Amino acid sequence: MLKIIEEQISQRSQRTYAEEDQSLIPEGGYKSPDAHLYEDVLVSVVLQKPVLLKGPSGSGKTKLAETIANQFQQPVHSINCSVDLDAESLLGFKTVVQKDGQTFIEFVEGPVVQAMRQGHFLYIDEINMAKAETLPILHSVLDYRRMLTNPFTNEVIHAHPDFGVIAAINEGYVGTTPMNEALKNRFISFSIPYISGEQLELLIDERFPAIQSQLKNQMLSLSNDLRQQVKNGLLSDEAASIRSLFDAIELAEHIDTIRAIQYAIAEKLEDQTEKNLVIELAKTWIG
Ligand SMILES: Nc1ncnc2c1ncn2[C@@H]1O[C@H](COP(=O)(O)OP(=O)(O)O)[C@@H](O)[C@H]1O
Ligand SMILES: [Mg+2]
Repeated sequence: MLKIIEEQISQRSQRTYAEEDQSLIPEGGYKSPDAHLYEDVLVSVVLQKPVLLKGPSGSGKTKLAETIANQFQQPVHSINCSVDLDAESLLGFKTVVQKDGQTFIEFVEGPVVQAMRQGHFLYIDEINMAKAETLPILHSVLDYRRMLTNPFTNEVIHAHPDFGVIAAINEGYVGTTPMNEALKNRFISFSIPYISGEQLELLIDERFPAIQSQLKNQMLSLSNDLRQQVKNGLLSDEAASIRSLFDAIELAEHIDTIRAIQYAIAEKLEDQTEKNLVIELAKTWIG
């Protein structure tokens, strides 16, 4: 690994956290689909650049973010974007508290403020699902300024040096809006593909140590076909989701494999022709 990454890992992992924050340090386990991707993301993080992970559902974006946080042993605060996301859910809100018979107004810090102040990671999932007017609050947080004027308290907050932002976007997925340009421009962007071949096999071995080799080979072959048909435009991206594949394997360790594939992969697709194609492909490998 690059020296600047190693230095930061050893420096950051020496930090100690209260129990509550310690519980926000996730497990790792992301497998890089090629020799460079994982390390390139780490370099960007070390350089204090916000990173954007672009990829279809179940390609490991969340797992990658968790693995980065685990690598640096830093807690993660997460935000799930939706049209309901507002400034309060990002920054926090004022509340009335009673102490010793007296009434105070207190500001409860939201995930952005907590992560900035304490030098944790901020994970922003489905960042393109937020309303266009919500996220500009974060522009000064995401560029070289790394600061924020909290509109609720007028306080100026400068980010801790270990603070980092990792965002994810499900690009191309039906129903998603493209990401605003000014926002997108602040990120270093990475395409996260579905893992395949030897890497996928290693991951299956890790995740399902007791898997029978016949089932493993069937699922690897099916996964190849699904990815190919996504490329050919006959199946939508999610058909090749690693999450769905793993769900199918888990079920298939107990029930009929075709039914497992039906429930975990085929039924998730909208289009009847696509559902049928998944089952047809499965039947070519599973007798
Ligand atoms: N490259 C990978 N390395 C490790 N696990 C992966 C990888 N790709 C997918 N997975 C697994 O697939 C499932 C879905 O991954 P997740 O990170 O939730 O996907 P996403 O956030 O892109 O929808 C998880 O169980 C995850 O561990
Ligand atoms: Mg995710």
